[in-house]
Amino acid sequence: MISIDAKKQIDVWIAKYPKDRQSSAVMQALKIVQAENENRLSSDTIQAVADYLDMPGIAAQEVATFYENYNHKKVGKHVIRFCHNISCMLNGADDLIKHLENKLGVKTGEITADGLISVKKVECLGACVGAPMFQINDEYSENLTSDKIDQIVDNLK
Ligand code: FES
Repeated sequence: MISIDAKKQIDVWIAKYPKDRQSSAVMQALKIVQAENENRLSSDTIQAVADYLDMPGIAAQEVATFYENYNHKKVGKHVIRFCHNISCMLNGADDLIKHLENKLGVKTGEITADGLISVKKVECLGACVGAPMFQINDEYSENLTSDKIDQIVDNLK
């Protein structure tokens, strides 16, 4: 369920925490396992992470379902997490999300026909000073405009 390569990556994170605190690596472990499972987590893969970290499955499940960066259904190769919380909303996020949906030909929660991009609306990503903003994979893009979005999305293709 967890590849040897993924276990090696997880072990690097486990080593960063005190002995018997391997469960502290759960967020990174879930991220690593998600990356090698088509960018999503199933109940089985979450349980496999919990078993590897010797922690209760429900605790890993709680982490995996609390944070927006874990996917539980099929997503595109690139996931655009568009913040629509207060700072971003006040700076035009709603109109920009519509612009992005029109550009990609999908609604929030859908995947482009080529399977390349999916869009999610998420809560504050802690980059309010750069609102409006979104996250693509691990990278933040801030002070978005429709032109900037077009450029970023075109570079993904
Ligand atoms: S409200 Fe969008 S990053 Fe905080």
